[in-house]
Amino acid sequence: AARIRTHHLQQAKAKGERFAMLTAYEQYTAEIFDQAGIEVLLIGDSASNNVFGNETSLPVTVDELLPLCRAVARSAKRALVVADLPFGSYEVSPAQAVATGVRFLKEGLAHAVKIEGGAFYAGTVRAMVQAGIPVMAHIGFTPQSEHSLGGYRVQGRGDDAARLVEDAVALANAGAFCVLMEMVPAETAAAVDAAIDVPTIGIGAGNATTGQVLVWQDMAGLRGGKMAKFVKQYADLRTTLGAAAKAYADDVRSGQFPGPEHSF
Ligand code: KIV
Ligand code: NA
Repeated sequence: AARIRTHHLQQAKAKGERFAMLTAYEQYTAEIFDQAGIEVLLIGDSASNNVFGNETSLPVTVDELLPLCRAVARSAKRALVVADLPFGSYEVSPAQAVATGVRFLKEGLAHAVKIEGGAFYAGTVRAMVQAGIPVMAHIGFTPQSEHSLGGYRVQGRGDDAARLVEDAVALANAGAFCVLMEMVPAETAAAVDAAIDVPTIGIGAGNATTGQVLVWQDMAGLRGGKMAKFVKQYADLRTTLGAAAKAYADDVRSGQFPGPEHSF
């Protein structure tokens, strides 16, 4: 199938169709999700706390994300491959954002990048788009700002809904090809979607957005512990993998593996 590009996502919104996005951080999940028809793969800075073992997304670096991005981009034949610019790699100036974005397209082989932040970043988005870097905007709850926002909290409630709409309009006008919203009331997300022509993507943002995204380890039940309210688990990979590892270890200890059929 032909490569999905940003204009296909825009066509989806125009036609009233929806699309699916998942994170991916390496070869096999990228291949599997691509072949399953997931339209957009995100090398999220959530790799920080889903691959590298950190507690938050803040510590992950450009140099850590680039090889993951390259692996996903090489493995996905159809999906649009989007990379997160990690905390500290774009906030200083539009020039810093352009330089980091170029690295993700050149060294990471990404097709687009995502940055967190509202209307303040319109100039940054404009500079990146001018440089040939498609930008997805991420508003609402922005995990890189969790220390400023006071932890994981729903954004855009009540009077704050208007601010979110203004952010989305400013970012879309600056040339963002898509606006992603995290932890936003469904009603606010619907208002944002109605206010802009570019597609929207939601995570904990109700059902009115053009697309939806989940972290794949949450979607497939690989991660343990408490899941956020917005997560739906479609598999229980943690149990499946744990049982496989235990069965293998049991076979090794009892001498059942390797058998004659595995031996030369
Ligand atoms: O890093 C990430 O995984 C994300 C998505 C959850 C939107 O930004
Ligand atoms: Na992210």
